Amino acid sequence: MADRAPGELTPAGLVCPQRTGTASEKWERWAGRDVLPMWVADMDVQAPPCVLDALRARLDHGVLGYARTMPSFATSLAGWLRRRHGWEIDPAWVVATPGMVVAMNQAARVLGEPGADGLVMTPIYPPFLRAPGHAGRRCVQVPLTADAGIDWQALEAAADGPGRVLWLCSPHNPTGRVWSLAELQRLADLVVRRDLHVVSDEAWMDLVLEPGVRHIPFASLSPALAARTITIVAPSKTFNIPGLSCAATIIADQRLRDAYRHADQGLVPWPNALGTIACEAAWSHGDAWLDALLPALRRNRDRVHAAVNALPGLASALPQATYLTWIDCRARGWDDPAAVFERAGLGLSDGRPFAGPGFARLNFACPDALLDEGLRRLGAAALSASS
Ligand SMILES: Cc1ncc(COP(=O)(O)O)c(C=O)c1O
Repeated sequence: MADRAPGELTPAGLVCPQRTGTASEKWERWAGRDVLPMWVADMDVQAPPCVLDALRARLDHGVLGYARTMPSFATSLAGWLRRRHGWEIDPAWVVATPGMVVAMNQAARVLGEPGADGLVMTPIYPPFLRAPGHAGRRCVQVPLTADAGIDWQALEAAADGPGRVLWLCSPHNPTGRVWSLAELQRLADLVVRRDLHVVSDEAWMDLVLEPGVRHIPFASLSPALAARTITIVAPSKTFNIPGLSCAATIIADQRLRDAYRHADQGLVPWPNALGTIACEAAWSHGDAWLDALLPALRRNRDRVHAAVNALPGLASALPQATYLTWIDCRARGWDDPAAVFERAGLGLSDGRPFAGPGFARLNFACPDALLDEGLRRLGAAALSASS
């Protein structure tokens, strides 16, 4: 598995060296135990050669003084958004940040009014549930419908009041939904009519797996929306570089951008030198690598989907994006599905922190041999466990 050039993908799937002993969050969680980790959102694949080469060149220079985020960071992101998503941004709108969750919490401090509601559609990536509260706002959960659609009536009701913020995860983690143009336009109408601000986390924008489906950046819908939206993006999911802690916020409105910058309150470090270099390399040169990754992820997705839905009492919808499958175990009546899977040697994410009790989340971004074994363990758990 490890005898290939770093970053190489085969036509057949992902290639990855052993990750045990590399201080990996994913692989250390059950270190020393026979539990296959298919949980936290990073991929078992090396970063693209263009990223690794850029990092090597920086390290070969050898001086690691204070780093400045150069204008090429923003222009490379602007080029990526234009090429991949048809979104024209002004590079002046871009603020580099040392992580998306940091940016979410910084955004929470400047949008809406203290004490007012942040509307979060659940289930959801857990930091969404905490960010409003960290900033003295209330987190109001608006559950998605059973088929992971937007509950418009509930959202309208929750949007009624001053100083509110809509928290959008687009594409959606954990369900893998890609919001359609019609859904986004209806959201846009609601946002303008109710005078909401928006945080749009588009971490998964590049990993749309469903043919014919397209991610549409929320702020790209109109200048009026862009003026009330903080968009957060990163190459960290796309190119598997989350350990380099680097992301970007896109804020069209200058006053909002200034307020956002000031809201760091001395707590947020500059993005680190290696992170910005990796982002820039990925956005400038990563297209072909991503184009090779997507079919491999799609094949894994389809295998997981077929396997899950063939098991008694388990179900999952086909994720349109992400490399995550959200498994509905409620028919089994298990209190803690992740614990059931863990006993069978499979490490999944527990649905409860996502406000999704009765669910578990499986990360299928791994080489075939690992997926084979993961699916074997999934089946063993489902066929043997009674509670
Ligand atoms: C929707 C979403 N936003 C943000 C993040 C994390 O971003 P970062 O590691 O840059 O804080 C994740 C990671 O899984 C995610 O799924």
